[in-house]
Amino acid sequence: MMSRAEVSARVRAVMARMTLAEKIGQLSMLADGLVETGPPGPHNPFTMILEGRVGSLLNVWGRDLIREAQRKAVEESRLGVPLFFGLDVVHGHRSIHPVPLGEACAFDRELWEQTARDSAIEAFSDGIHMTFAPMIDVARDIRWGRIVECAGEDPYVNAEFARARVRGYQAADAEGFMRLAACAKHFCAYGAVLAGRDYAEADVSERTLHEVYLPPFKAAVEESVAAIMPAFVDVAGVAMTAHEKLMRGLLRTQWGFDGLIVSDYNAVSELMNHGVAADLAEAAALALHAGVDIDMMSEAFPQGLPVALERGAVSLEQIDDAVARVLAFKERMGLFDDPYRGIGVDISAGRAARRALSREAARRSIVLLRNEDAMLPLRAKSIALIGPLADAPEDQLGAWASAGAGAESITIVEGLRRGFAGAHVSFARGCAFTAPIDGGVDDAVMGARDADAVVLCIGEDRLSTGEAASRTKPEIPAAQLDLARAVYAAGKPVVLVLCVSRPLVLPDWLVDGARALLIGWHAGSEMGPALADILSGAFNPSARLCVSWPTTTGQTPVFFGMRPTGRPHDPNNGWSTGFLDAPYAPRFSFGEGIGYAHFTRGSLRLDEATINRHAVTTLRVDVTNVSEVPGVETLFLFARDPVAQVTRPLLELKDFTKVALAPGETTQVSFSLRASDFSYLDSELQPRLDNGVIRLFVGASARASDLDCIELTIADGPREA
Ligand code: NOJ
Repeated sequence: MMSRAEVSARVRAVMARMTLAEKIGQLSMLADGLVETGPPGPHNPFTMILEGRVGSLLNVWGRDLIREAQRKAVEESRLGVPLFFGLDVVHGHRSIHPVPLGEACAFDRELWEQTARDSAIEAFSDGIHMTFAPMIDVARDIRWGRIVECAGEDPYVNAEFARARVRGYQAADAEGFMRLAACAKHFCAYGAVLAGRDYAEADVSERTLHEVYLPPFKAAVEESVAAIMPAFVDVAGVAMTAHEKLMRGLLRTQWGFDGLIVSDYNAVSELMNHGVAADLAEAAALALHAGVDIDMMSEAFPQGLPVALERGAVSLEQIDDAVARVLAFKERMGLFDDPYRGIGVDISAGRAARRALSREAARRSIVLLRNEDAMLPLRAKSIALIGPLADAPEDQLGAWASAGAGAESITIVEGLRRGFAGAHVSFARGCAFTAPIDGGVDDAVMGARDADAVVLCIGEDRLSTGEAASRTKPEIPAAQLDLARAVYAAGKPVVLVLCVSRPLVLPDWLVDGARALLIGWHAGSEMGPALADILSGAFNPSARLCVSWPTTTGQTPVFFGMRPTGRPHDPNNGWSTGFLDAPYAPRFSFGEGIGYAHFTRGSLRLDEATINRHAVTTLRVDVTNVSEVPGVETLFLFARDPVAQVTRPLLELKDFTKVALAPGETTQVSFSLRASDFSYLDSELQPRLDNGVIRLFVGASARASDLDCIELTIADGPREA
């Protein structure tokens, strides 16, 4: 409950004048139907505003529309309570940055924060107060379309991403108000949906919840995230929208989260579909008890709460508590003082800098995985650019592109023509995304024959990934593979650029036949120039995969943090874990990625090889750029507890860092370690720190061959951490 002391006199005064319907109005968020991210509702939000029966709108954009809606609320509704406006500003608002799964590959906390800050500046000037982001659902199943929205397979990376994003979105403006409130989602375990099927059940153990799915949310709460959205799904049979233990218990009571809990779209009513509520009143009561303050776009709070109150299933005090929280949020956003705050603020002066940041973000997100015979940087005098993704202004923006306009994208064709001004760049689309086009392949092959090198851009359109876009065959469509096969047969060296929003299963011939291979992602408004910078060598690629790429769909989920088995994988032993018909390892592992520079590492050193459980120490390693170009190396620090009371993951990511090195330069990289970093949840899920050895691994990826190991001993356990 919000304590009375935290509720300002102004909020108390407004609440004192409110009818029940007006109170419930504050707890109702409606879409105006312009941007559809769920089934349309039956109401005209404008009528609801006049009647004080809505407290916030989502998916509205357009300054005039927002100003008008706000004017109606403050000037024409009985109490004049301002609305707030929410939108999915997930990876940029007008200047679109790479999709989150791509930007996560930059492994750059500062970049993640800066792009969020720029998104907030743009959204704020369009009158948006809350973004339904960051999405921090750890995802390991490439069938799940929403994998695009998160920071990949690892809880630590998602937690660091969450911190950076919340800081960036919620940065204060000149008057000291936060520009854009973050709403971390989807609490929790949405990434674990069965078979990657969107909205399906998530049947995860308590251990996995605490070790994998919850840490990113804990991090968001520690960064003072303003709001949290429960997931659509049920977790081990309890629908998250009604999960009292995890929301009121863990989130509010244990973690002290005092922000808003905003349901997902129509999720409160959907408690009936889950089969845990018989009617809207029961659904509303369950959600309110669990801690939900705002019902997004369902009939449950507006229609069900009055009935629930009559039945005695909820109390007025519970409703008041949620209303106070909503009004306190509006007050905190400065809306009682200036309901039009932000709308139309002139931000044109910063546009060039924001677009430059989008380009920088794209360059740092595109992952180079192969570069045979130093194919890149490209020195060709004539380049045949081929493929439907090379000229896809809308699709390069990816899913959830907020107010991003394809008309403002710089495509790959344009980018390469500008970036390779001294070369001849021909372009042939070759095919549509999923279908051949007449003569398309022939044109493309002709173009390839006439050129010194081919840049082949294939992949997915933006609607193939995202919400309600799960796929049993996350593959490149056949028409594009036919194109690729014909282009390869032309015999020219091919740079393959995969423009995708999730890992796809790739045929061996496609990977093996490419001289250079890049994961371009859907890299946003500036994808064209960013890719050109990399291909020309103006930028030395530095991104690393934040998610493993399976060899086949049947290998899913495959990730570096798997737990050991009693029969560890051994290619020479048929009775060890693995598959008869697929390799054990993914095609590309977490952390893979190269650049144009080469690095060597010295041996790992610990300041103290043995520490007690309260101690800290430092792990050091020298890194040298042994090439003739400047470059950026990424180092990951993993740990493994080889003997514990319960099985521990084969590798646990503890930290990552990037270092920029001039040719020939050596620098020392250090990671500080606390003994408590190696505590774990015991068989009763209590924190425990053991005596004994922890293996520390440092390297450029999670592949065993990329890692060096050193042992740290913790000397005075076992005791509780
Ligand atoms: C449903 C999605 O699950 C959620 O992530 C999004 O914020 C809402 N729709 C609003 O668009």
